[in-house]
Amino acid sequence: MQLVQDRIESKREPVDIETPAIAITDVTKSFGPQRVLDGVSFNVRRGETLAFLGRSGTGKSVLLRIIIGLQTPDSGSAIILGTDMAHASEDAMSAARTQMGFLFQHAALYDSLTVADNVAFPLVHHRQDLSGADRRERVQMLLNEVGLEGHGNKMPANISGGMQKRVGLARALALDPVILLLDEPTAGLDPISSGEIDELILSLQHQHQMASIVVTHDMLSAKTIATRIALMNHGKIVIEGSYDKLQDSHESFVSQFLHRDS
Ligand SMILES: Nc1ncnc2c1ncn2[C@@H]1O[C@H](COP(=O)(O)OP(=O)(O)O)[C@@H](O)[C@H]1O
Ligand SMILES: [Mg+2]
Repeated sequence: MQLVQDRIESKREPVDIETPAIAITDVTKSFGPQRVLDGVSFNVRRGETLAFLGRSGTGKSVLLRIIIGLQTPDSGSAIILGTDMAHASEDAMSAARTQMGFLFQHAALYDSLTVADNVAFPLVHHRQDLSGADRRERVQMLLNEVGLEGHGNKMPANISGGMQKRVGLARALALDPVILLLDEPTAGLDPISSGEIDELILSLQHQHQMASIVVTHDMLSAKTIATRIALMNHGKIVIEGSYDKLQDSHESFVSQFLHRDS
């Protein structure tokens, strides 16, 4: 097991912990007349988890897509592990992307693939240097890590919503990313399953010290998993800081949000 882990990790360049892994500066993005992001700036370093909260339609998913390089900001910059995602070549962008694990909002698993094959998918595409046996070993290790030992042969349709999110998390971790981006990882789950996913995210973060962003609707989740919380409204970060800092805020939007959701 350890050997596979070493081989996986040896592919990665040494990472500078001082420089923010994610540096977003004054990003704006409009769709037609609608300004979705209106001057957003923040940094995330390795070992930190920044939680984004805000109503639907405030641009949280667009922000994640800009970080991944699937959308381009109209102005401002998204520098991810030193790569300017708006202006990088396809090769540079794709190199940066292999260092990012993401779980999209509706955790789309491939319905026709088993749990194990879903988790193996990024390895098949980006780690052709691994033998089939190494890949299977790595998949088992990932399934164990998210608490799905023994479920590899099941189909996504036959497991619970919480287990599907775990598969999505294992897949996001497959390439041993430096950056982890999770878009509403507990949406649609009951409170107990949500709590379990939060605990898992916390322990993965503790284990791997990634630079993480988690979009959530749930203040309790944010309080549990985040180092810092950013509250978004109308395309801007209204406030960013610890849960305690948010609690001390006198801004009415902030206290409304705290009281509605906590
Ligand atoms: N590709 C797109 N084309 C047009 N409008 C978009 C596109 N992507 C997102 N939007 C709009 O941007 C706004 C913010 O979307 P989104 O980031 O998904 O919000 P949320 O904060 O709920 O994740 C929404 O009004 C959405 O309709
Ligand atoms: Mg969204």
